[in-house]
Amino acid sequence: MLESPGIVVLTGAGISRESGLATFRDPDGVWARVRIEDVATPEAFARDPARVHGFYNARRAQLDEPAVAPNAAHMALAALERSWPGAFLLVTQNVDDLHERAGSRRLVHMHGELKRARCTRCEATQAWSAPLDTRTLCPSCVMPGGMRPDIVWFGEMPYHMDRISAALARCGLFVSIGTSGNVYPAAGFVAELRGRAETVELNLLPSEGAALFDDAIHGPATEVVPAYVARLLARWT
Ligand code: APR
Repeated sequence: MLESPGIVVLTGAGISRESGLATFRDPDGVWARVRIEDVATPEAFARDPARVHGFYNARRAQLDEPAVAPNAAHMALAALERSWPGAFLLVTQNVDDLHERAGSRRLVHMHGELKRARCTRCEATQAWSAPLDTRTLCPSCVMPGGMRPDIVWFGEMPYHMDRISAALARCGLFVSIGTSGNVYPAAGFVAELRGRAETVELNLLPSEGAALFDDAIHGPATEVVPAYVARLLARWT
């Protein structure tokens, strides 16, 4: 029996679409309604913090709506992590909490999390479910006016890149799910792995980087992800 390969799974907004959360670049996506430059850059926050807080407060509150829950794709990835005999890391670009709520543990949020906040004065981060505003006191340094969403904005360095690079360097299988392949460094992972790992894309439509993958299965995540995980476990365990 061959040793099971290490797996790195990358997810994007498409995996949460069937849980009721909008993607970014689909016609009904977030960036069709609001400009990145107005709400998702450090400059936007410096210029109009109240507007940026309003944008993220609305998205954070949406996670507590009863209809927004992990779907079969999130659940399948948590089951894969529990059953997989080899190394496993789930790297998500998503800032929602659906992977955690599905039971995923070996998980990193490279673009941060809606349910965390960070103080720009003392750099402490905390779990955060309430609205943030310019008067919010930091629970650590008790200074006002420095709290921001713990989200990686455009122009900022993604989180956990050392851990992600180490996992990519040793993986034998890379599975990209529900991402358009528009935003780096995540969009560059597949090119990094060519010839070194088996790469597959599970997506509703071919992504920007579709030609770089060894294999592609197109369809809604709640259909293609559970079926793919079942085949993978049947083959390797
Ligand atoms: N099942 C599977 N894939 C889907 C589904 C679905 N039900 N619905 C949409 N998709 C696919 C779309 O075809 C698209 O390729 O999900 C992808 C979503 O792409 P984007 O909206 O660009 O989201 P994402 O790739 O996660 O964006 C990356 O960009 O705006 C920044 O920081 C933000 O993390 C985000 C990053």
